[in-house]
Parts: sequence; structure tokens; C-alpha cells
Amino acid sequence: MSAVNRRIVLDHRPAGTPEAGNFRRDDQPAPEPGEGQILLRNHYLSIDPAQRGWISPGVNFAEPVAVGDVMRSLAVGAVAATRSAKYSVGEYLYGWFGWQDYCVAGEPQVIARVQPAQGPVSLGLGLYGISGVTAYLGLTEIGRPRAGETVLVSTAAGAVGSVVGQLARRLGCRVAGLTGSDDKVRQCLAEYGYHAALNYRSGLDAAAMNALCPQGIDVFFDNASGEIADAVWPHMNLRGRVVQCGTAAVACWDPAPLAPRRERIMLTRRLRHEGFMIFDHLERFPAVIAQLARWHQEGTLVFHEDIETGLDRAPAALAAIFRGENRGKKMVRITHGTRAL
Ligand SMILES: NC(=O)c1ccc[n+]([C@@H]2O[C@H](COP(=O)([O-])OP(=O)(O)OC[C@H]3O[C@@H](n4cnc5c(N)ncnc54)[C@H](OP(=O)(O)O)[C@@H]3O)[C@@H](O)[C@H]2O)c1
Repeated sequence: MSAVNRRIVLDHRPAGTPEAGNFRRDDQPAPEPGEGQILLRNHYLSIDPAQRGWISPGVNFAEPVAVGDVMRSLAVGAVAATRSAKYSVGEYLYGWFGWQDYCVAGEPQVIARVQPAQGPVSLGLGLYGISGVTAYLGLTEIGRPRAGETVLVSTAAGAVGSVVGQLARRLGCRVAGLTGSDDKVRQCLAEYGYHAALNYRSGLDAAAMNALCPQGIDVFFDNASGEIADAVWPHMNLRGRVVQCGTAAVACWDPAPLAPRRERIMLTRRLRHEGFMIFDHLERFPAVIAQLARWHQEGTLVFHEDIETGLDRAPAALAAIFRGENRGKKMVRITHGTRAL
């Protein structure tokens, strides 16, 4: 008798930010791999702010998940059966495996091999997954900060932001962060190497921004958009760069929210504003992961994981990140009755 595949499917689309009730369980028999495919048993499911966009109408990089389909998600899984010459039983892979116990996948769904020698396999979902690689490439390829410049990061204590902060510091920049609680401000200063950090809920007027970045801002690594970005742009320096990495502070893009016009600031300060999309850079993963792993293993790059246990926790975990409740990379571990990896 085949195993049961517990699946979390989209029940109905959210009005703005998702709640646990937007999803439901729909169990099916575990699938069998076809020729050239593998069967994965998921161990860690990713919880990403981008998942709100993947189930919402609006401006997206891919078709939204269909109602009734398994929730689209990155995951780390172990190969349980293989009909592919490329992958072996027992190896850990990172890719598009969904919020479910088992997934049949072909090569296009696999993003990277997870190397247990580089640390716990959960890191394959965060520091060595899209969070860490996005931080590295978004900062170095688009932000291109030079030593002595000021880099400002929004969602500064999060999975991406915490790595951006540490990398910018490593490059000799003055690094400032915006985040959503006093506790996260303390974390930015004590653990992630920020020179200054501010809880945006305490106010983002010109005086607060000048105190946070007295020399202005040369690189704005923006994960938030919305009113947070509105407060930052007037403080950009001549020839500053804005990396548009995320829009966590905007719940809905249909219709798009109104904001102050920025063209005059862009014109007079000669700014560059460029979007970054990690899925354009899949070929860069192995080299960037190797670099991040060296720094992490020598103890100079800190990364926090916020792990919940149990497949059924995934929908509530997604809702929680939009209340800012996560401390580091949010993920869900599936134990399958075995000991944690
Ligand atoms: N472009 C790409 O290729 C790419 C790849 C990966 C991630 N990203 C983006 O990077 C950003 C960070 O992702 P992550 O995985 O590192 O998540 P994260 O920062 O670990 O967690 C999400 C954080 O977003 C903030 N947030 C949530 N709702 C908010 C709201 N209404 N207003 C303001 N802040 C809010 C909260 O931080 P605070 O408590 O600090 O507000 C929350 O902790 C996201 O926008 C994500 O979509 C982009």
C-alpha cells in the first residue's frame, strides 16, 4: 500500500494578506516517479513573503497558484526513489516541492543540491537558499556599495535583510536598518553588525531618518516598499542605488497603492532604481553558496532560523510573517516520525 501524501492546498484567495483559513488539507496517495523523475520526501518547507504574491492577482512573475492546487513552495527534501540518472536516493535537494510530504519532480524543479558538509540541511532553505543568495547578489550586483558609503536595509532583521546587513558591513560600509520592533532593533545592532537601526513603528519623519543616516543613503536595499520606502527616498544621496528586492509592506497590488512621485528625486540625484529577481540567477547558486558557507563556517556570518514543526503549521506560519513575528528565516520542519536532522 502506498504512503499517504499530506498536502496543503489553496482553498480560496486572500483579500490582501493571507490567513491560515485560505488553505486546507487534501491528502492523496503518495505519487510514483515517472521516467527521468525523482520522488522527494520533504523535510523543510519554506515560508516566504513572496507566497502572498503567488496566490494573489496582480503584478507577479508567474501565474498564481490555482485554487485547489498544492501551495507553491520551495523546500528541502531527500530523494526517496529515483528514475533519473542525475540524482541518487538519499541526497538532499532544494527546489519547488510544495507544501506536502512527497513530491514527484523533474530536473527543472531542482534549484540546488544541499551539501550536508556545509551545515544542517535546513540551511539549504535559507542562508544557502534564495535568502542568502538574494542578499549577496542583490547587494553586490545592483547595490554595488563602496567602502565608506551608507547602506540602508528594510526588513533589516529578516532572512534576507540580516545577511545584507552583515555583507555590507564586511564591505566597509556604514550600515543602517529599518525593522518592526525594538527587539529586532537590538538584534540588528548586537548580532548582525548594523551601526544603527530604527523601529519604523516609532515614526519615520525627516528627523528620525537624518538621525539614522546622517550622511544620507547611497544604497537602499528595499525589501518593504510602501510607506517605509516613501520615507527613505528623499534621503538618497547623489548617484544612489535602490535595489528593489521585495514589497513586504504592501498587502495588495490590485489596485496598486498611491505613493509620492519619485521622478524629481531620481532626476536631480541621478539615482538608479533596479528590481532584483533571484530566479534570473540560478546558475550563480553554487559559487555564491560556497562563499556564504565559508563565512558561516568560519563564524563571521550569522544566520537565524525560525523553525516550526508539523506540516499543518505552514499556513499559520505564513500569516505570522506578515505580523513580523518571525526571528530569522521562517520554515516548517516535517519529521515523518523520524528524529530531526
Ligand atoms: N527579489 C527576490 O528575488 C527575493 C528573494 C527572496 C526574498 N525577497 C524579498 O525579500 C523580503 C524579505 O524576505 P525574507 O524571506 O527575508 O523575509 P523576512 O524578512 O525574514 O520576513 C518578512 C518580514 O517582512 C516584514 N513585514 C511583514 N509585513 C510587513 C508590513 N506590512 N510592513 C512592513 N514590514 C512587513 C517583517 O519584518 P519587520 O518586523 O522588520 O517589519 C517580517 O518579519 C521580502 O519582501 C521578500 O519577498 C525577494
